[in-house]
Amino acid sequence: MSRNTRENQFADCIEKLRWYLWGLRQGGIRLLERAPRKNLEEGCPVNPAAALDPEEELSKLRGELAGCSRCGLHCGRSNLVFGEGSARSGLVFVGEGPGADEDRLGRPFVGRAGKLLDKMIFAIGLERADVYICNVVKCRPPENRVPQPGEVGACLPFLLRQIEVLRPKVICALGLSAAQALLKTTEPISRLRGTVRSLQGIPLVCTYHPAYLLRSPSQKAAAWQDLKEVMNLLGASRP
Ligand code: URA
Repeated sequence: MSRNTRENQFADCIEKLRWYLWGLRQGGIRLLERAPRKNLEEGCPVNPAAALDPEEELSKLRGELAGCSRCGLHCGRSNLVFGEGSARSGLVFVGEGPGADEDRLGRPFVGRAGKLLDKMIFAIGLERADVYICNVVKCRPPENRVPQPGEVGACLPFLLRQIEVLRPKVICALGLSAAQALLKTTEPISRLRGTVRSLQGIPLVCTYHPAYLLRSPSQKAAAWQDLKEVMNLLGASRP
């Protein structure tokens, strides 16, 4: 079978699936449960997502990072900032890296930018405790500089595993560093915003970093458009 035929068949299949799902939605069905998948080796039904306890998996991951010296950022660290929030949340925010307040307290987004992030979360009808918040790098870059590629490279596998464990409905990248690291791209934020991307099959919305919005409040309207997209993707069911 030629590549073109295979591609056409695949497109056709997707189109049919879209119509099928649309029909279910018209009939008031909003949630589909995945049937347990057969483990081909052992022949027993497994649901990998359900088999993992996200709190436990996150705590194991946090343990793996304890005392981390995989990059130079550990030299100036007071506290590693792993991330916090609901491990069963449908929404994960990813920032760039801890600042001074975060380094002091070991918690993400607790300074001025964090206060604005709290308001952004509130604006979409949620509380901080409803979502999960983390960063690309877990240790503070000196003078809050942008993390260097080697630092991002050392930390990224842990962020990707956090996302794998959390399996949210939507990921929101806050600012250029997070968007570029997650999407492994060098595209500018102007191109990254405005279209829904995908990571591990999860919709990813890129928006401005709250610290940037504090410096450029005129961009808040654009950020609000991005947040509306996040709400839209979350749908009627809340995290
Ligand atoms: N900026 C970030 O990117 N992350 C934080 O945790 C705080 C400020």
